[in-house]
Amino acid sequence: MADTTAQPAPAGADTGNGGADTGTGGEPTRRDFLLIATGAFGAIGVAALAWPFIDQMNPDASALALATTEVDVSSMEPGQSIKVIWRGKPVFIRYRTEKEVAEARAVSLDELKDPDARNANLGDNADASDANRSVAGREDWIIMVGVCTHFGCIPLGQQGEFGGWFCPCHGSHYDTAGRIRKGPAPENLAIPEYEFLDESTLRIG
Ligand code: FES
Repeated sequence: MADTTAQPAPAGADTGNGGADTGTGGEPTRRDFLLIATGAFGAIGVAALAWPFIDQMNPDASALALATTEVDVSSMEPGQSIKVIWRGKPVFIRYRTEKEVAEARAVSLDELKDPDARNANLGDNADASDANRSVAGREDWIIMVGVCTHFGCIPLGQQGEFGGWFCPCHGSHYDTAGRIRKGPAPENLAIPEYEFLDESTLRIG
């Protein structure tokens, strides 16, 4: 039986291409050219594939600014909390008890370390009263970015000396309105823009 296995042509051999083969004297052969060309296209292919991934990692500012999250809170009862991720950060959603709201309201402003509401739903000059730490008509809910204002740890809920949130990294205590009351954190927990679209749907952002 004849051997039909293809063998590479020896350098300088006529490959029957009418003289197009330049495989003599160290010049690249047509086969080398094909391999080089394939490699070059491969590199371009990888670059073309990689670009969308790299591009995805750089969303422009307008895309970030528009990012919103809708959360169904219809099953939550007073005293319950959930955590959701919004724009890559944890957000605490707590349906506060009457006791928690009463405790937060009983605090006078001069007891507060940070007098600023830090509430994106209000103007810059709003004080950190409990009413300013929520939105009108929904004062029993508190929605905050769950990132400690000291060095960015995630505080633990319903812990610490003020019954709100406690950051164990360096010992910052936040009250039931998320206001810094003790420890190294300089600011109250930030409140993002949010809105209750109806009885059960909370939109953050
Ligand atoms: S990061 Fe929270 S107390 Fe330091």
